[in-house]
Amino acid sequence: PLMNSKYLLERARKEGFAVPAFNIHNLETLQVVLDTAKEMQSPVIIAGTPGTYKHTGVSELVSMMESACASRNMRAILHLDHHQDIPDIAAKLNAGIRSVMYDGSHFPFEENVANTLKVAQLCHEMGASLEAELGMLGGQEDDLIIDAASACLTDPDAAVEFVSRTGIDSLAVAIGTAHGMYKSVPKLAYPILEKIAAKVSIPLVLHGASGIPDEDIRKCISMGIAKVNVATELKIGFAGALKHYFEVHPEGNDPRDYMAVAKQAMREIVLSKINVCGSAGKS
Ligand code: 13P
Ligand code: ZN
Ligand code: NA
Repeated sequence: PLMNSKYLLERARKEGFAVPAFNIHNLETLQVVLDTAKEMQSPVIIAGTPGTYKHTGVSELVSMMESACASRNMRAILHLDHHQDIPDIAAKLNAGIRSVMYDGSHFPFEENVANTLKVAQLCHEMGASLEAELGMLGGQEDDLIIDAASACLTDPDAAVEFVSRTGIDSLAVAIGTAHGMYKSVPKLAYPILEKIAAKVSIPLVLHGASGIPDEDIRKCISMGIAKVNVATELKIGFAGALKHYFEVHPEGNDPRDYMAVAKQAMREIVLSKINVCGSAGKS
């Protein structure tokens, strides 16, 4: 059965490491993350946006995940990343998924609270864990695009109220990161993270980790971040290796050859993020 992420993230926050959440899109990217996590004995979260589940098919991804974990004799968490549609979340809970992020960050506070509370009840009835977001990240995550002007940082006092009124299990914070890569590396709002961490005891989640220097990610983890989301850097590594392969082998056409080099490139990034998260040996 698929696991929720509540206890793992609570343990991570308590022990001062973070669980990396990697966005995957197909069999090969799932295999890279699981193989690397197994080798490093790292806990890991396999994340998919609504667009990813649409691409793979929900039951196909659930089946792949279950059989890939069983054949490796390992456990991992399959997660819904940035889901916004409540009936869609309910359907995916029914398909067996037990780790959810509901993203109501674009709504006014009261509406975000009301919707998040509804999803929290739905999730907790099914034994699933819920992450929700307050404040809003800029950038692009699949079909979700937020311009820089609309992005806003998490208000620490509002975060306390949000967590206590919704009963969520982890909180995604906006502290200056954005989805995608950066034109210039952002200055993170450490005083805000410090205030949130002092007032909110549940695990905190860092979105938009692609392009953030390792030392910044480490500092965030030392301050209470217990889950680090990585998507874009993996895509760039995988696609970059494919582009290079076909430049060198314009006649190439065997997926077993070109996928192998793409997987190898992605593996290096997964390995490096596991090291930054301090999660090796924690599974
Ligand atoms: P990046 O694409 O910047 O790594 O962000 C990933 C993310 O937050 C997924 O939810
Ligand atoms: Zn995100
Ligand atoms: Na980013």
